[in-house]
This record gives sequence, C-alpha cells and structure tokens, in this order.
Amino acid sequence: MSNVKEGDWVLLYYNERKNYVVRVEKGKTFHSTHGSIDLSSLIGVPYGSYVETNIGEKLLVTKTSFMERLEGLQRTTQVIYPKDLGYILLASGVGPGSVVVEAGTGTGFLTATLAWYVRPSGRVYTYEIRKDFYQQALKNFELLGVLPYITAKNRDIRDGIEEEDVDAVLLDLPSPWEIIHEAYAKLTHGGSLTVFVPTLTQVEKTLRSLRSSDFKLIEVSESIQRKYQVTPGELRPLTLGVMHTGYIIRARKP
Ligand SMILES: C[S@@+](CC[C@H](N)C(=O)[O-])C[C@H]1O[C@@H](n2cnc3c(N)ncnc32)[C@H](O)[C@@H]1O
Repeated sequence: MSNVKEGDWVLLYYNERKNYVVRVEKGKTFHSTHGSIDLSSLIGVPYGSYVETNIGEKLLVTKTSFMERLEGLQRTTQVIYPKDLGYILLASGVGPGSVVVEAGTGTGFLTATLAWYVRPSGRVYTYEIRKDFYQQALKNFELLGVLPYITAKNRDIRDGIEEEDVDAVLLDLPSPWEIIHEAYAKLTHGGSLTVFVPTLTQVEKTLRSLRSSDFKLIEVSESIQRKYQVTPGELRPLTLGVMHTGYIIRARKP
C-alpha cells in the first residue's frame, strides 16, 4: 500500500463523469461543486481511500496516468490530444535515449510526452517564439517532473535549429513548410520528421515543401477516436465529442 506524498498528482473520483486531477501542494485548496479540500490534508492518505470535502461529499483518492496529469496543466494554446500523441510517439520512433527537436512548445503537451519517453538518457530541445508561453511551459514541465530532460528555448525556430544529428524533429506551428529543409539538414540519417497541422491547406503546403526535399516515406493520416458511454444496457457512442484535431504528416531522412 502507498500513501499520498507532497507533489503527487492524484485523481479525486466522485463518479464516472465527475473526477478531478490535482497536484498535492501545501497551502493550496481544491474547489469543486462537491465542496473543497485543503490539499495538505491529502498528504499521508492511503491511495484507494476516501476523503471528505467541507460539505461532507466523499471523493476516492487514486493515482494518475501521465495522460491524466497532462489534463491537470494550465493551457495557454491549443494542445495535441492523447489520441494523436500516441500515434506521433510510435510513428516518430522516439524512445529512451532519443535526441529530439520540437516546435512550437505551446502548452507543452507534446514536449512533456516526448520527454517522458526519452528518459532517462535522451533530451528534448523545444523552441517557442512567445515568451509568455515559454514561461508557462517551463512551469508545466516542472510540475510534471520532466524538466530535467528538456532544454526549452524562447526562440523562433525559423532562425535555425541549433542541434545536430537529431533523431526526430516534430513541428506543431502555423507554417511548418518553412522549416522542412532545415529539419532535413539537422536530422541524422534514418531520423524522422512529424508535422501536426489542423487544416488541409497546411497539409498541401507542407507536402509541396517535402517534395522539394529529399525526405522519403511521406505519409499523411488522421487519427479518429470515438468515446462511448459506459452505462450498463445503454452502450453507445457519446452524443458529443471532439470532431477534429489535426493531420499528422510523417517522413524520413533516408
Ligand atoms: C498549437 S501550439 C503548440 C501546442 C503544443 N504542441 C502542445 O501540445 O501543447 C503552436 C505554438 O507554436 C508557437 N510558434 C509559432 N511559430 C513559431 C516559430 N516560428 N518558432 C517557435 N514557435 C512558434 C506558437 O507561439 C504556439 O505556442
């Protein structure tokens, strides 16, 4: 049996539809429609037990996955969703020890996920043009415990990629076609390029740039995920859901 420690991310479960991801910090209070809890009071509580809010509602304390911890972050930008993160991770070939370059950092969902998987010996170099986004992303990385595996730069990636022999370049910014040739130059042979864009206009422009380069194994895809309601006897897709996130373009430097 393990107990909650300061700095842990915990999931406070009310029912299948209402649950909350919080980081346990002294001096902070969790507020919800089910009442509030002084987060320091969670320290030492065994996982799997119930705690009571100030209005007597019971919440089950359980551990979180990395995906759930991402949900607890403060968002500054549109983010890459887990359904896309999973495919991007496998398709890019990123794993323990990889050297990765990524832009723009944004909220840091992709950066943090990459960092989680390049541990313990790899590194993610991430570029963000906006200082306010860069600063909030640093806080997010610290909260998730992935900061030791990330070099974050408040820099325009169009000014050049500073790293050499990179295993993977990942781009989630408005005009990725401007960076294709630079990415090719800085990738190692066998390295991968992954681009995430929300519109087909951006896909076309990126493909045009890819075709003017020596990248091979070019693929465009879209990942579609449909969530279901799990009410017994009423199993069916949820009425509302995320209809579109973006297109994933991948290519390899041979
Ligand atoms: C959609 S957000 C990225 C979201 C991020 N992938 C995530 O999962 O949280 C795009 C980001 O790219 C940044 N950006 C745009 N152009 C850039 C450039 N030339 N160099 C670096 N960052 C750039 C924007 O400021 C914005 O924060």
